[in-house]
Amino acid sequence: MPPTVNDPFSRPLRDLRISVTDRCNFRCPYCMPKEVFGAGYAFMRDPQLMTPIEITRIVRAFRALGVEKVRLTGGEPLLRADVPDLVRALKTEIGVPDVALTTNGWLLEKLAPALHAAGLNRVNVSVDSLDDATAGRMNGLGFSVARVLRGIDAAAALGLPVKINCVVQRGVNDHELVALCEYFRARGHALRFIEFMDVGNTNHWSSSQVVPAREIVERIGAVWPLEPAGPAYRGEVAARYRYRDGRGEIGLISSVTEPFCRDCHRARLSADGKLYTCLFASLGWDVLGCLRSGADDAALAKYVARIWSGRLDRYSDERAELLATGEGRAKVEMSYIGG
Ligand code: GTP
Ligand code: 5AD
Ligand code: SF4
Ligand code: SF4
Repeated sequence: MPPTVNDPFSRPLRDLRISVTDRCNFRCPYCMPKEVFGAGYAFMRDPQLMTPIEITRIVRAFRALGVEKVRLTGGEPLLRADVPDLVRALKTEIGVPDVALTTNGWLLEKLAPALHAAGLNRVNVSVDSLDDATAGRMNGLGFSVARVLRGIDAAAALGLPVKINCVVQRGVNDHELVALCEYFRARGHALRFIEFMDVGNTNHWSSSQVVPAREIVERIGAVWPLEPAGPAYRGEVAARYRYRDGRGEIGLISSVTEPFCRDCHRARLSADGKLYTCLFASLGWDVLGCLRSGADDAALAKYVARIWSGRLDRYSDERAELLATGEGRAKVEMSYIGG
């Protein structure tokens, strides 16, 4: 068991979420509204991006500090052709116990075999709606959901555990809660409902569009009774509920109404190699710069340990207060930092 490094609130560093690209082939208005992320938006250029070798070296440093789970994300991680090679390196060279991927599923049908062969442990796929009109609105580009569902089937057929992420927005897709449950429990996938969050600065977030997790549980429970299930692991983001009929479970990610900062063990690395100690941080630490200027593994680990030891982030706990006092500040965009 590698040593652990704790922050001042005794939160160990356990998970690393790595954004491998800030680009995406969707334009979900809650994440990358197309008026902002359209032609002319300055995405990162290739030389800025971490290479698979650099990512592997950085993960080695995090592993030495106790990181057990690495999640590849974006933007859309599968836009990078080298993701299967990266997964293989993380599994075989570094021996990361849990290597997961968060994707919008558009390219999953094609890439599931290579990802599985590379040793990927599991995949989380976003599905906000089963209805093409609503799905098209929520991915911003009118894309049908059928291809994403085929990607999920392809991953599941290979034996990859699949979880579904659904961002719930009042008046947009909350009429579909029960239909989504019905579809995914029939296929044995855990479905997690995510409260619409005020990530970034451009998604026109308003608290009136947040459907509280409690309400979601009540609405689904009225159709299929639910009971709370304990977390699958310490610091799990989703609160789990089992269907009382024994046919599966759902999860609630209630970052707005019931924040979970107290147990937050997650560090985030942007695609240009900056370390963010919170999803809502404004500033990142240049780990890639450190590596490129010649730091060896021990120096990298020391740099990261120093940052984590000073980490005071608890944005979601403080959100209500910050919004009430108008002390909101510029945050980085989620596609940049890695959802
Ligand atoms: P599992 O390892 O399968 O439990 O995945 P996960 O829930 O940690 O990761 P996933 O990428 O599927 O994220 C689901 C949602 O939870 C996304 O909307 C994330 O932004 C949100 N989320 C994950 N970690 C955090 C966090 O530390 N803080 C907040 N506020 N939201 C988070
Ligand atoms: N609020 C909640 N979840 C969001 N995601 C992206 N933007 C938001 C937001 N504003 C989700 C995606 C994906 C996960 C990585 O983050 O839908 O499931
Ligand atoms: Fe792309 Fe995911 Fe953001 Fe949608 S939520 S725009 S799929 S990165
Ligand atoms: Fe962790 Fe920041 Fe999310 Fe709180 S708001 S759970 S500190 S990432």
